[in-house]
Amino acid sequence: MANLLSLCMALAVVTALLVSFHVGKLTISQEIYFPQIEKFPSLATASSHVCCSCNSSSSLDEWLHPKEVWHSMTDEELMWRASMAPRVEEYPHNWTARVAFMFLTRGRLPLGPIWEWFFKGHEGFYSIYVHASPEFKEEAVESSVFFKRRIPSKPVEWGAATMINAERRLLANALLDFSNQRFILLSETCIPLFNFTTIYNYLINSNQTFLGSFDDPRPMGRGRYNKRMWPLVTLADWRKGSQWFAIDCKISIEIISDLKYYPVFRDHCRPPCYMDEHYPTNLSD
Ligand SMILES: *[C@@H]1O[C@H](CO)[C@@H](O)[C@H](O)[C@H]1NC(C)=O
Ligand SMILES: *[C@@H]1O[C@H](CO)[C@@H](O)[C@H](O)[C@H]1NC(C)=O
Ligand SMILES: *[C@@H]1O[C@H](CO)[C@@H](O)[C@H](O)[C@H]1NC(C)=O
Ligand SMILES: *[C@@H]1O[C@H](CO)[C@@H](O)[C@H](O)[C@H]1NC(C)=O
Repeated sequence: MANLLSLCMALAVVTALLVSFHVGKLTISQEIYFPQIEKFPSLATASSHVCCSCNSSSSLDEWLHPKEVWHSMTDEELMWRASMAPRVEEYPHNWTARVAFMFLTRGRLPLGPIWEWFFKGHEGFYSIYVHASPEFKEEAVESSVFFKRRIPSKPVEWGAATMINAERRLLANALLDFSNQRFILLSETCIPLFNFTTIYNYLINSNQTFLGSFDDPRPMGRGRYNKRMWPLVTLADWRKGSQWFAIDCKISIEIISDLKYYPVFRDHCRPPCYMDEHYPTNLSD
Protein backbone atom coordinates (compact mmCIF):
# COMPACT_ATOMS: atom_id res chain seq x y z
CA MET A 1 0.00 0.00 0.00
CA ALA A 2 2.78 2.40 0.94
CA ASN A 3 4.57 1.62 -2.30
CA LEU A 4 1.43 2.15 -4.26
CA LEU A 5 0.90 5.49 -2.64
CA SER A 6 4.40 6.66 -3.42
CA LEU A 7 4.05 5.69 -7.06
CA CYS A 8 0.82 7.63 -7.14
CA MET A 9 2.51 10.62 -5.60
CA ALA A 10 5.30 10.51 -8.13
CA LEU A 11 2.70 10.58 -10.89
CA ALA A 12 0.98 13.51 -9.26
CA VAL A 13 4.25 15.46 -9.25
CA VAL A 14 4.78 14.75 -12.93
CA THR A 15 1.25 15.69 -13.85
CA ALA A 16 1.40 18.82 -11.70
CA LEU A 17 4.52 19.86 -13.60
CA LEU A 18 2.79 19.10 -16.87
CA VAL A 19 -0.20 21.20 -15.88
CA SER A 20 2.04 24.13 -14.95
CA PHE A 21 3.96 23.71 -18.16
CA HIS A 22 0.76 23.86 -20.14
CA VAL A 23 -0.29 27.19 -18.67
CA GLY A 24 3.08 28.59 -19.63
CA LYS A 25 4.97 28.91 -16.39
CA LEU A 26 6.91 26.18 -14.74
CA THR A 27 6.37 26.77 -11.04
CA ILE A 28 8.71 24.68 -8.99
CA SER A 29 7.72 24.97 -5.39
CA GLN A 30 7.78 22.88 -2.23
CA GLU A 31 4.11 22.37 -2.78
CA ILE A 32 4.65 20.54 -6.05
CA TYR A 33 7.62 18.49 -4.94
CA PHE A 34 6.00 17.39 -1.72
CA PRO A 35 2.29 17.21 -2.35
CA GLN A 36 0.24 16.78 0.76
CA ILE A 37 -2.30 14.02 0.83
CA GLU A 38 -5.16 16.57 1.09
CA LYS A 39 -3.99 18.10 -2.16
CA PHE A 40 -4.60 14.88 -4.05
CA PRO A 41 -8.16 15.44 -5.21
CA SER A 42 -7.45 18.76 -6.89
CA LEU A 43 -4.29 17.42 -8.53
CA ALA A 44 -6.15 14.36 -9.72
CA THR A 45 -8.96 16.46 -11.12
CA ALA A 46 -6.57 18.73 -12.97
CA SER A 47 -4.58 15.82 -14.30
CA SER A 48 -7.57 14.02 -15.73
CA HIS A 49 -7.39 16.33 -18.72
CA VAL A 50 -3.68 15.93 -19.21
CA CYS A 51 -2.52 12.49 -18.29
CA CYS A 52 -3.86 9.53 -16.41
CA SER A 53 -5.57 10.27 -13.15
CA CYS A 54 -3.97 8.22 -10.45
CA ASN A 55 -7.22 7.90 -8.63
CA SER A 56 -7.47 4.32 -7.53
CA SER A 57 -5.27 1.27 -7.53
CA SER A 58 -7.40 -0.06 -10.37
CA SER A 59 -5.81 2.42 -12.77
CA LEU A 60 -2.36 1.11 -11.86
CA ASP A 61 -3.64 -2.42 -12.30
CA GLU A 62 -5.07 -1.53 -15.66
CA TRP A 63 -1.75 -0.06 -16.71
CA LEU A 64 0.36 -2.97 -15.47
CA HIS A 65 -1.99 -5.65 -16.64
CA PRO A 66 -4.17 -4.39 -19.52
CA LYS A 67 -7.29 -6.45 -20.07
CA GLU A 68 -7.81 -5.56 -23.70
CA VAL A 69 -5.19 -6.63 -26.20
CA TRP A 70 -6.59 -4.65 -29.11
CA HIS A 71 -5.16 -1.16 -29.56
CA SER A 72 -4.59 1.48 -32.21
CA MET A 73 -0.82 1.91 -31.88
CA THR A 74 1.38 1.67 -34.94
CA ASP A 75 4.18 -0.93 -34.85
CA GLU A 76 6.67 1.82 -34.11
CA GLU A 77 4.63 3.18 -31.23
CA LEU A 78 4.02 -0.31 -29.94
CA MET A 79 7.72 -1.30 -29.92
CA TRP A 80 8.68 1.93 -28.19
CA ARG A 81 6.02 1.54 -25.56
CA ALA A 82 6.86 -2.11 -24.95
CA SER A 83 10.59 -1.43 -24.61
CA MET A 84 10.01 0.32 -21.30
CA ALA A 85 11.11 -1.88 -18.46
CA PRO A 86 10.88 -1.09 -14.77
CA ARG A 87 14.21 -0.33 -13.11
CA VAL A 88 12.88 -1.01 -9.63
CA GLU A 89 13.10 -4.75 -9.21
CA GLU A 90 10.63 -5.05 -6.36
CA TYR A 91 7.12 -4.80 -7.74
CA PRO A 92 4.74 -2.64 -5.73
CA HIS A 93 2.15 -5.37 -6.23
CA ASN A 94 1.81 -8.95 -5.26
CA TRP A 95 0.88 -10.82 -8.36
CA THR A 96 1.41 -14.11 -9.98
CA ALA A 97 3.93 -14.32 -12.79
CA ARG A 98 2.27 -15.36 -16.02
CA VAL A 99 3.48 -17.20 -19.07
CA ALA A 100 2.58 -15.52 -22.35
CA PHE A 101 1.54 -18.04 -25.02
CA MET A 102 1.91 -16.32 -28.37
CA PHE A 103 0.26 -18.02 -31.31
CA LEU A 104 1.41 -17.19 -34.82
CA THR A 105 -1.33 -18.55 -37.06
CA ARG A 106 -3.00 -18.04 -40.42
CA GLY A 107 -6.58 -18.55 -39.34
CA ARG A 108 -8.44 -20.64 -36.87
CA LEU A 109 -6.29 -22.83 -34.63
CA PRO A 110 -6.88 -26.40 -35.80
CA LEU A 111 -5.78 -27.70 -32.43
CA GLY A 112 -7.79 -25.10 -30.53
CA PRO A 113 -9.80 -27.68 -28.53
CA ILE A 114 -6.59 -29.23 -27.18
CA TRP A 115 -5.36 -25.83 -26.04
CA GLU A 116 -8.73 -25.01 -24.47
CA TRP A 117 -8.45 -28.18 -22.45
CA PHE A 118 -4.81 -27.42 -21.61
CA PHE A 119 -5.56 -23.95 -20.21
CA LYS A 120 -8.76 -24.91 -18.40
CA GLY A 121 -8.64 -24.15 -14.71
CA HIS A 122 -5.40 -22.16 -14.86
CA GLU A 123 -6.79 -18.66 -15.29
CA GLY A 124 -4.43 -16.04 -13.94
CA PHE A 125 -1.28 -17.99 -14.77
CA TYR A 126 -1.19 -17.41 -18.48
CA SER A 127 -1.91 -14.77 -21.12
CA ILE A 128 -2.76 -15.61 -24.71
CA TYR A 129 -1.92 -13.54 -27.77
CA VAL A 130 -2.89 -14.47 -31.30
CA HIS A 131 -1.41 -13.01 -34.47
CA ALA A 132 -3.60 -14.21 -37.33
CA SER A 133 -3.89 -13.19 -40.94
CA PRO A 134 -5.76 -9.85 -41.19
CA GLU A 135 -8.29 -11.47 -43.58
CA PHE A 136 -9.29 -13.89 -40.87
CA LYS A 137 -12.09 -12.07 -39.09
CA GLU A 138 -13.68 -14.83 -37.08
CA GLU A 139 -13.91 -14.25 -33.34
CA ALA A 140 -13.74 -17.14 -30.90
CA VAL A 141 -16.81 -17.86 -28.81
CA GLU A 142 -17.03 -15.96 -25.56
CA SER A 143 -16.32 -19.00 -23.41
CA SER A 144 -13.09 -19.71 -25.30
CA VAL A 145 -9.65 -18.87 -23.91
CA PHE A 146 -8.98 -17.26 -27.31
CA PHE A 147 -11.89 -14.84 -27.05
CA LYS A 148 -10.66 -11.31 -27.81
CA ARG A 149 -7.00 -12.34 -27.68
CA ARG A 150 -6.22 -11.27 -31.26
CA ILE A 151 -3.65 -8.52 -31.54
CA PRO A 152 -3.60 -6.01 -34.42
CA SER A 153 -1.93 -8.04 -37.16
CA LYS A 154 -0.44 -7.65 -40.63
CA PRO A 155 0.09 -10.10 -43.50
CA VAL A 156 2.88 -12.63 -43.01
CA GLU A 157 4.90 -14.42 -45.67
CA TRP A 158 6.51 -17.54 -44.32
CA GLY A 159 10.27 -17.21 -44.10
CA ALA A 160 10.32 -13.49 -44.88
CA ALA A 161 10.94 -10.45 -42.70
CA THR A 162 7.19 -10.02 -42.23
CA MET A 163 7.35 -13.15 -40.10
CA ILE A 164 9.86 -11.55 -37.75
CA ASN A 165 7.68 -8.44 -37.68
CA ALA A 166 4.80 -10.63 -36.54
CA GLU A 167 6.96 -12.22 -33.84
CA ARG A 168 8.07 -8.80 -32.64
CA ARG A 169 4.45 -7.62 -32.62
CA LEU A 170 3.47 -10.59 -30.48
CA LEU A 171 6.35 -10.04 -28.08
CA ALA A 172 5.66 -6.32 -27.80
CA ASN A 173 1.98 -6.90 -27.06
CA ALA A 174 2.86 -9.47 -24.43
CA LEU A 175 5.40 -7.12 -22.87
CA LEU A 176 2.69 -4.51 -22.31
CA ASP A 177 1.47 -6.75 -19.52
CA PHE A 178 4.05 -6.62 -16.77
CA SER A 179 2.86 -9.86 -15.20
CA ASN A 180 4.12 -11.84 -18.20
CA GLN A 181 7.51 -13.24 -17.26
CA ARG A 182 8.05 -15.92 -19.87
CA PHE A 183 7.21 -15.77 -23.56
CA ILE A 184 6.51 -18.79 -25.72
CA LEU A 185 6.10 -18.54 -29.47
CA LEU A 186 3.86 -21.22 -30.94
CA SER A 187 2.57 -22.11 -34.36
CA GLU A 188 -0.86 -23.41 -35.23
CA THR A 189 0.54 -26.93 -35.37
CA CYS A 190 2.13 -26.94 -31.92
CA ILE A 191 0.57 -29.14 -29.29
CA PRO A 192 1.35 -29.16 -25.57
CA LEU A 193 3.39 -32.18 -24.53
CA PHE A 194 2.87 -31.80 -20.79
CA ASN A 195 0.05 -30.50 -18.67
CA PHE A 196 -0.18 -26.81 -17.82
CA THR A 197 1.19 -27.10 -14.28
CA THR A 198 4.28 -28.92 -15.47
CA ILE A 199 5.03 -26.46 -18.26
CA TYR A 200 4.32 -23.44 -16.09
CA ASN A 201 6.51 -24.56 -13.20
CA TYR A 202 9.28 -25.61 -15.51
CA LEU A 203 9.43 -22.29 -17.33
CA ILE A 204 8.85 -19.98 -14.37
CA ASN A 205 11.42 -21.72 -12.19
CA SER A 206 14.01 -21.87 -14.91
CA ASN A 207 16.40 -19.03 -15.44
CA GLN A 208 17.28 -20.35 -18.88
CA THR A 209 15.87 -19.45 -22.22
CA PHE A 210 14.95 -22.03 -24.80
CA LEU A 211 16.08 -20.80 -28.13
CA GLY A 212 17.71 -23.21 -30.53
CA SER A 213 21.19 -22.10 -31.53
CA PHE A 214 23.81 -24.10 -33.35
CA ASP A 215 26.56 -23.74 -35.86
CA ASP A 216 25.51 -25.79 -38.88
CA PRO A 217 28.37 -26.23 -41.37
CA ARG A 218 26.02 -27.47 -44.10
CA PRO A 219 24.62 -25.35 -46.94
CA MET A 220 21.38 -24.85 -44.99
CA GLY A 221 23.45 -23.44 -42.12
CA ARG A 222 26.66 -21.61 -42.90
CA GLY A 223 25.69 -21.69 -46.58
CA ARG A 224 23.00 -19.12 -45.87
CA TYR A 225 25.44 -16.59 -44.51
CA ASN A 226 25.64 -13.49 -46.67
CA LYS A 227 28.97 -11.64 -46.74
CA ARG A 228 27.12 -8.34 -46.90
CA MET A 229 26.25 -8.77 -43.24
CA TRP A 230 29.87 -8.31 -42.34
CA PRO A 231 31.17 -6.76 -40.10
CA LEU A 232 28.09 -6.65 -37.89
CA VAL A 233 27.56 -10.39 -38.23
CA THR A 234 30.55 -12.62 -38.99
CA LEU A 235 30.50 -16.18 -40.28
CA ALA A 236 32.03 -17.34 -36.98
CA ASP A 237 29.06 -15.81 -35.14
CA TRP A 238 26.48 -17.13 -37.57
CA ARG A 239 23.99 -19.46 -35.89
CA LYS A 240 20.94 -21.34 -36.89
CA GLY A 241 18.01 -22.11 -34.66
CA SER A 242 14.43 -23.18 -34.85
CA GLN A 243 11.92 -20.40 -35.06
CA TRP A 244 9.99 -21.45 -31.96
CA PHE A 245 11.22 -20.32 -28.58
CA ALA A 246 10.57 -19.74 -24.91
CA ILE A 247 12.38 -16.68 -23.59
CA ASP A 248 12.36 -14.24 -20.67
CA CYS A 249 11.66 -10.50 -20.47
CA LYS A 250 15.26 -9.49 -20.98
CA ILE A 251 15.65 -11.19 -24.36
CA SER A 252 12.13 -10.21 -25.41
CA ILE A 253 12.93 -6.55 -24.82
CA GLU A 254 16.22 -7.04 -26.63
CA ILE A 255 14.39 -8.42 -29.68
CA ILE A 256 11.72 -5.74 -29.88
CA SER A 257 14.11 -2.84 -29.31
CA ASP A 258 16.82 -3.96 -31.71
CA LEU A 259 17.37 -1.41 -34.46
CA LYS A 260 20.93 -2.44 -35.26
CA TYR A 261 20.75 -6.05 -36.46
CA TYR A 262 17.20 -6.06 -37.75
CA PRO A 263 17.85 -4.01 -40.94
CA VAL A 264 20.94 -6.09 -41.77
CA PHE A 265 19.00 -9.34 -41.51
CA ARG A 266 16.00 -7.91 -43.31
CA ASP A 267 18.13 -6.80 -46.25
CA HIS A 268 20.61 -9.66 -46.47
CA CYS A 269 18.93 -12.75 -45.10
CA ARG A 270 16.40 -13.58 -47.78
CA PRO A 271 15.32 -17.01 -49.00
CA PRO A 272 17.01 -19.43 -49.05
CA CYS A 273 18.13 -17.69 -45.87
CA TYR A 274 15.14 -17.73 -43.53
CA MET A 275 15.23 -14.80 -41.18
CA ASP A 276 13.06 -16.47 -38.58
CA GLU A 277 15.61 -19.30 -38.24
CA HIS A 278 18.57 -16.98 -37.86
CA TYR A 279 17.63 -13.60 -36.50
CA PRO A 280 16.41 -14.32 -32.93
CA THR A 281 19.19 -16.78 -32.27
CA ASN A 282 21.99 -14.61 -33.66
CA LEU A 283 20.60 -11.63 -31.78
CA SER A 284 20.59 -13.37 -28.44
CA ASP A 285 24.12 -14.78 -28.79
C1 LIG B 1 -12.16 8.53 -8.62
O1 LIG B 1 -12.90 7.61 -9.41
C2 LIG B 1 -14.26 7.48 -9.01
C3 LIG B 1 -14.91 6.46 -9.90
O2 LIG B 1 -13.98 5.63 -10.51
C4 LIG B 1 -14.97 8.83 -9.14
O3 LIG B 1 -16.31 8.71 -8.69
C5 LIG B 1 -14.24 9.87 -8.29
O4 LIG B 1 -14.83 11.12 -8.48
C6 LIG B 1 -12.78 9.92 -8.67
N1 LIG B 1 -12.08 10.83 -7.78
C7 LIG B 1 -11.29 11.79 -8.21
C8 LIG B 1 -10.65 12.61 -7.17
O5 LIG B 1 -11.06 11.97 -9.39
C1 LIG C 1 3.61 -9.46 -0.90
O1 LIG C 1 3.45 -10.71 -0.24
C2 LIG C 1 4.51 -11.01 0.66
C3 LIG C 1 4.26 -12.41 1.21
O2 LIG C 1 2.93 -12.75 1.21
C4 LIG C 1 4.54 -9.95 1.75
O3 LIG C 1 5.61 -10.22 2.64
C5 LIG C 1 4.77 -8.58 1.11
O4 LIG C 1 4.73 -7.57 2.08
C6 LIG C 1 3.69 -8.31 0.08
N1 LIG C 1 4.01 -7.06 -0.62
C7 LIG C 1 3.10 -6.12 -0.90
C8 LIG C 1 3.60 -4.93 -1.63
O5 LIG C 1 1.92 -6.25 -0.61
C1 LIG D 1 0.58 -32.85 -14.47
O1 LIG D 1 1.63 -33.71 -14.80
C2 LIG D 1 2.44 -34.07 -13.70
C3 LIG D 1 3.62 -34.88 -14.24
O2 LIG D 1 3.24 -35.74 -15.25
C4 LIG D 1 1.61 -34.85 -12.68
O3 LIG D 1 2.39 -35.20 -11.57
C5 LIG D 1 0.45 -33.95 -12.24
O4 LIG D 1 -0.39 -34.67 -11.36
C6 LIG D 1 -0.34 -33.48 -13.43
N1 LIG D 1 -1.30 -32.50 -12.97
C7 LIG D 1 -2.59 -32.56 -13.28
C8 LIG D 1 -3.45 -31.47 -12.74
O5 LIG D 1 -3.03 -33.42 -14.00
C1 LIG E 1 20.40 -20.30 -12.79
O1 LIG E 1 19.96 -21.29 -11.89
C2 LIG E 1 20.97 -22.17 -11.45
C3 LIG E 1 20.34 -23.23 -10.58
O2 LIG E 1 19.00 -23.38 -10.82
C4 LIG E 1 22.01 -21.39 -10.67
O3 LIG E 1 23.05 -22.23 -10.28
C5 LIG E 1 22.56 -20.29 -11.56
O4 LIG E 1 23.45 -19.48 -10.82
C6 LIG E 1 21.42 -19.43 -12.10
N1 LIG E 1 21.96 -18.48 -13.04
C7 LIG E 1 21.63 -17.20 -13.03
C8 LIG E 1 22.27 -16.35 -14.06
O5 LIG E 1 20.85 -16.73 -12.22
